[in-house]
Amino acid sequence: MKGKQMLEIRQLSKSFGRTTAVDDVSLQIPEGQMIGIIGRSGAGKSTLLRLLNRLLEPTAGAVRFAGAEVTTLKGRELLAWRADCAMIFQQFNLVNRLDVLTNVLIGRINRHGTFSSLAKHFTAAERALAIAALDRLDLADQALQRADTLSGGQQQRVAIARAMLQEPKLILADEPIASLDPRNATRVMEALRTINREDGITVICNLHTLDKARSYCDRIVGMSQGAVVFDGAPQALTQAAVHAIYGAAGEEDAISESVTSTALPGFAAEDRPVSGQLNGTEIGPRAGQEPRPDRVVLSA
Ligand SMILES: Nc1ncnc2c1ncn2[C@@H]1O[C@H](COP(=O)(O)OP(=O)(O)OP(=O)(O)O)[C@@H](O)[C@H]1O
Ligand SMILES: [Mg+2]
Repeated sequence: MKGKQMLEIRQLSKSFGRTTAVDDVSLQIPEGQMIGIIGRSGAGKSTLLRLLNRLLEPTAGAVRFAGAEVTTLKGRELLAWRADCAMIFQQFNLVNRLDVLTNVLIGRINRHGTFSSLAKHFTAAERALAIAALDRLDLADQALQRADTLSGGQQQRVAIARAMLQEPKLILADEPIASLDPRNATRVMEALRTINREDGITVICNLHTLDKARSYCDRIVGMSQGAVVFDGAPQALTQAAVHAIYGAAGEEDAISESVTSTALPGFAAEDRPVSGQLNGTEIGPRAGQEPRPDRVVLSA
């Protein structure tokens, strides 16, 4: 543990009908920690992250950040909170048709408030920030390439650069390596850890399998059926703890890097994070969505 307590999750629960996705979760998260949340498919990992950035409203409980209640924020304050929480997704969520640099600059939209024209609204200083972020992630040479010409691992690093431009207080990463081969998965986890260590940004990272959590995280939170069943340092994760998290039948899944997240059909698209307006298409907090390639209309 390091830093002062920054994020306090108190008795947080979320039910969908009869399913309790998050069940009475309480966690104290100090500034600058890198936390891996592990658990089987359906354990509640994604729901917990969405509750933190207020893409979902809790059924019960509270979230406090730096002493302020997050669960009751409205309007501008809610938008500011969402800008403080950068999200990183399994599927990268880049705008395929735009070049890498512009994708990274999209991270600024959260800080701009309004946004109408891509070319005009970014300052030279912002462009320099974007290039520096790409350079740090070893992607400066790809800056002018279309996003969809990059490998999955490169695309996820672009998403991390975009998150950096948002100047977040927290990075919430939902299975960031589930679609990547082991080599790219390692590079992405290293990038997250570098940002965590060098910039002191708290990272909460959902991971399906525990080997990456063990290797990269200061703290592991194990979830099962919505509840926290383990919370401690990687060294404290005994076989018994693994059993409690994954169950007897699931222990092999926990070890296998080939197991990836099963996106739940039908709801994932509606409750994603957010940004502004891209050539007339809302992609901001007001739209209740983050940039989605299929919804962006580019005027020439
Ligand atoms: N919007 C929703 N409507 C109904 N049920 C939901 C919704 N979101 C999540 N659930 C249910 O809540 C439970 C937890 O889901 P969640 O997506 O948080 O799990 P997860 O740990 O992220 O799983 P995975 O590893 O597959 O991504 C599941 O039973 C899921 O079906
Ligand atoms: Mg999930």
